[in-house]
Amino acid sequence: MLTVVEHPLIKHKLSLMRDERTGVKEFRELAGELSLLLAYEAMRDLETVPVQFSTPVQSGEFPMLSGKKLALVAILRAGLVMTEAITDLIPAAKVGHIGMYRDPETLQPVAYYSKLPEDIGSRRVFLTDPMLATGGSAVAAIDKLKEMGAERITLMCILAAPEGVAVIERAHPDVEVVTAAVDERLNDHGYIVPGLGDAGDRIYGTK
Ligand code: PRP
Ligand code: URA
Repeated sequence: MLTVVEHPLIKHKLSLMRDERTGVKEFRELAGELSLLLAYEAMRDLETVPVQFSTPVQSGEFPMLSGKKLALVAILRAGLVMTEAITDLIPAAKVGHIGMYRDPETLQPVAYYSKLPEDIGSRRVFLTDPMLATGGSAVAAIDKLKEMGAERITLMCILAAPEGVAVIERAHPDVEVVTAAVDERLNDHGYIVPGLGDAGDRIYGTK
């Protein structure tokens, strides 16, 4: 299932990220802010349970998160900025990392690292990567999570290409994709058009 989160703040911040004049500091901050706004939507159906306590005025039952276990998993590098922002919101979530880069010639994902919570199989997983382009990296990361037993996975990205969305829907129809926008297409180099360029390079200033 695909959810495109529609909100003027999201549109505005995404446009700032697209602008080639936006520098590293601002780009990274915007990626963090957008991640929080996307998390608000992606986590809309988290369960709450009534908990008994008193306010300074009256005692009562008030809704709190049920304590069902969550995991945030970043696809390195660029997904890291997203999990770092979201852990401010949910400090109790465990965080996993999957290292993956896309071979610039073949566009195939190359896995180089993986460290996941041991009990990932019993956690609801929010997988983060700002860019869903061909979908190769996300499919490989989801394959890995499922190998480790994960069953409920939401992929959070800032920008997606229609090609990448279709690839996820085909390979992992049970995975929900939450994104701020779906752009027109991929270009011949596998970049999203109009896109925002190379997310990792713009977050870390490596170009
Ligand atoms: C970017 C991006 C995704 C991947 C998307 O990572 O962060 O992981 O490309 O492309 P795909 O959908 O075609 O697989 P990149 O390979 O540039 O690595 P980096 O995050 O280390 O810069
Ligand atoms: N990875 C990126 O960072 N940007 C794209 O447009 C495609 C893949």
